[in-house]
Amino acid sequence: MSTQQRIGILIGPKGRGSNMRAILEACRDGRLRADAVVITPVMGTPAVEWASDHGCPVLCVPPSENYATELLNALSGCTLVCLAGYLRLLPMQVIDAFPHAVLNIHPALLPKFGGKGMYGMHVHVAVIAARETESGCTVHYVTERYDEGAIVLQARCPVLPDDSPETLASRVLELEHKTYVAAIQRHWDNEATDVS
Ligand code: GRF
Repeated sequence: MSTQQRIGILIGPKGRGSNMRAILEACRDGRLRADAVVITPVMGTPAVEWASDHGCPVLCVPPSENYATELLNALSGCTLVCLAGYLRLLPMQVIDAFPHAVLNIHPALLPKFGGKGMYGMHVHVAVIAARETESGCTVHYVTERYDEGAIVLQARCPVLPDDSPETLASRVLELEHKTYVAAIQRHWDNEATDVS
């Protein structure tokens, strides 16, 4: 890989930032040959503190009239955008500026259990209510619609008979961290072999 990759990680105001952390740790220990910048709508959260304490630049872009332009400025120099607990629809200008280069992770096996309102614990409640025996996570490209872009990578885990939404969520979250890092690498591998 010759290009210097830079990942722009977009987090939400209330996110734990555990996927952000997994990506930053992979950048730090060399599993991903990239550096990163974290973009947050609000400073002072535990996720932001963790990123700053570990030497990662953090930029604050709160929602505003010029949100799309300000996000694009913050993402300047990035080669890939990763949504990690970012619940808004990304402005079209940003999606257009990063064709096939915006990823999101969803805590279920898309195309099932996705779409508007399907986030956080709602997803795991729905998976258990549907009596699924398997769940997992999906990394996909971001489009103008929730959870509909092409899938880069999925990973599976069992849904156990006595699972609560919380126990299932924690099993899926553990899987998410490895899967997000692997999906980023797969995205770059695909880019490198794409001759179209
Ligand atoms: C994860 O469950 C992810 O699948 C979803 O939002 C959650 C973010 O968690 N998109 P964290 O902030 O990365 O811990």
